[in-house]
Amino acid sequence: MVYKPGALMLMGGRLILMRNQIFIIALLVFTFTNKGLSQQSPGLGVEATAEEIAVLDISIAPDGVGLPDGSGTVSEGAEVYAEQCIACHGDEGQGQLNDRLVGGHGSLIDDAPVKTVGSYWPFATTLFDYIRRAMPYLQPQSLTNNEIYALTAYILYLNEVIEEEDIVNAQTLPDIQMPNRDNFIMAYP
Ligand code: HEC
Repeated sequence: MVYKPGALMLMGGRLILMRNQIFIIALLVFTFTNKGLSQQSPGLGVEATAEEIAVLDISIAPDGVGLPDGSGTVSEGAEVYAEQCIACHGDEGQGQLNDRLVGGHGSLIDDAPVKTVGSYWPFATTLFDYIRRAMPYLQPQSLTNNEIYALTAYILYLNEVIEEEDIVNAQTLPDIQMPNRDNFIMAYP
């Protein structure tokens, strides 16, 4: 017998349901009979406090919304880098055990592109977010905001994005134009 998938079938006056049709009907029945129940809480857990949420709510938007108080310079960043980052990212961010953070400018169209903060990342603000959220790799979220601003300044300086005397803080960071910025398209402009 030939039948179309999804079509209701009548055989000998009896309705034959395909497996997917049974599922959809079951879902509809469940949805409508369950309406009252779904509004009740299962009564598990406790509501998170404002302080608990603040610890997790640390995302920085590309335009800098969410950046905290504090500031840092290139020379301060070089000191923190030597203590906290050099073992994994190498001298002046050249990469050693782990990712290279510096250089590769203009290499994205090569056969072997070198993607670094400087050659690839579209927003300087992401660097603050990333370091605060994830680095140093073994003690994430252990740095002060001033240290993070300083490291951000140092890595941008090594990538020739800012000058040695520039200060990085919530006001200056969003205005820093990254070299690869215009090769990204904003999905939600
Ligand atoms: C124990 C080793 C280790 C230390 C120390 C460390 N990192 Fe990293 N870092 C990593 C690893 C591993 C990655 C890649 C993580 C991934 O891709 O998930 C990374 C990635 C990064 C990246 C992103 C690079 C990219 O292009 O995606 C930045 C920026 C960075 N680290 C900055 C720092 C800074 C600043 C410090 C010092 C505060 C630091 N890291 C200390 C291991 C380390």
